[in-house]
Amino acid sequence: MSKKIQIYISLFLMGFFFLFSGFLVGQKEKSEALAITHGPYLQNISDNSATIMWFTNENCVSRVEYGTGENLRTFPQWGSLVQTAVSSSFGLIEANTKNHKIVIRNLEPGKSYRYRVVSKEIVQFQPYEVLFGSTVVGDICTFKTLNPLKESTSFYVVNDIHQDAARLDTQIQSVSWDSIDMVFLNGDSIDHFEDEKQIFDGFLDICVKRFAKDIPFILVRGNHETRGVLARHLFEYIPPRDDGYYYSFNQGPVHFIVLDTGEDKADSHPVYAGLADFDRYRDLQAEWLKANAKSENFSNASFQIVICHIPPYTGRTGRIRHGEQYIKKSWGPIFNDSGIDLLICGHTHRFAILQTDEEHNYPIVIGGRDTLIKVHVSQNEITVDVLESDGQIRESFSISADILK
Ligand SMILES: [Fe+2]
Repeated sequence: MSKKIQIYISLFLMGFFFLFSGFLVGQKEKSEALAITHGPYLQNISDNSATIMWFTNENCVSRVEYGTGENLRTFPQWGSLVQTAVSSSFGLIEANTKNHKIVIRNLEPGKSYRYRVVSKEIVQFQPYEVLFGSTVVGDICTFKTLNPLKESTSFYVVNDIHQDAARLDTQIQSVSWDSIDMVFLNGDSIDHFEDEKQIFDGFLDICVKRFAKDIPFILVRGNHETRGVLARHLFEYIPPRDDGYYYSFNQGPVHFIVLDTGEDKADSHPVYAGLADFDRYRDLQAEWLKANAKSENFSNASFQIVICHIPPYTGRTGRIRHGEQYIKKSWGPIFNDSGIDLLICGHTHRFAILQTDEEHNYPIVIGGRDTLIKVHVSQNEITVDVLESDGQIRESFSISADILK
């Protein structure tokens, strides 16, 4: 046999080997059943809309089936009362993706809805031939739209999870979810963002397991969410509200203001490599805060509660970092002038309650790493309970409505 023929035979055998191993790999992938890998979880609930997020292990096209209170008993049977929501942009339905985000619109305020997510696998996506595979259907879950006319509201705040899902679970596994409208994750839920597992394993899957299918969480950005190669892709997992990570909304007697405090060090600090622009971003929020304080949503509410990660005051002496200084200088006077009732922060990892003083005419609660803050707001009072990880109340105080305001 000539050397040339030997080479041809070798190449043929090598090609066959690669094709066969590729076939085996393909078979292995196909043997994995289509599944929902993370979620569903509720985001950005408003008085007329809700966003549902979830992830699958294969590329899919997805929909949400939902029903109103009238057809709860018949749900999920198909009927004229069960509706379907899909996501589409520029005429194209979102498809061939593992990341599913669907906004349900035209809902009614203060109403309970049932929903379930449905994803259909796409096994081939050719220009003129799309082939579908199996379908996965999520459990039946619930959500309730916001209602500014509601008599009261209750919510939890946790902060500085730093991907410690076990600690988060200890904090929330045995709490009561009765009457809880939402849970704020007040910054630094992850250490930085380089791998989506940091979000899933770090806090999201535990939130889904405990509450997030039925009660929304609101991720307030902390300084650590701004770090890492995926920080600019956070919106793919945590969709911004009203196109941003700072916004306001009303629920019951409260006008909530969520702010994005940015990095703790100066934008010029070498660790940011010239890629930080947070002073300007905080200035934008200052202008927005002034305009928001003049809105009817602000003034019509009995109470105004601000939630942000870095506190303008910590009650501690010693080094004060740039972010904290900037927030105090830029936002502090607006908080005082507009008459907010409560500021809830995190960041320091040390629990503190700073009562009203000559510098800030509103109390500040700073959550520690092991505390869970529970807030109940009625028409005439805010009650703040700071809970230890065993559920015991560590400290409690209340704020009465200022009838002269
Ligand atoms: Fe922080």
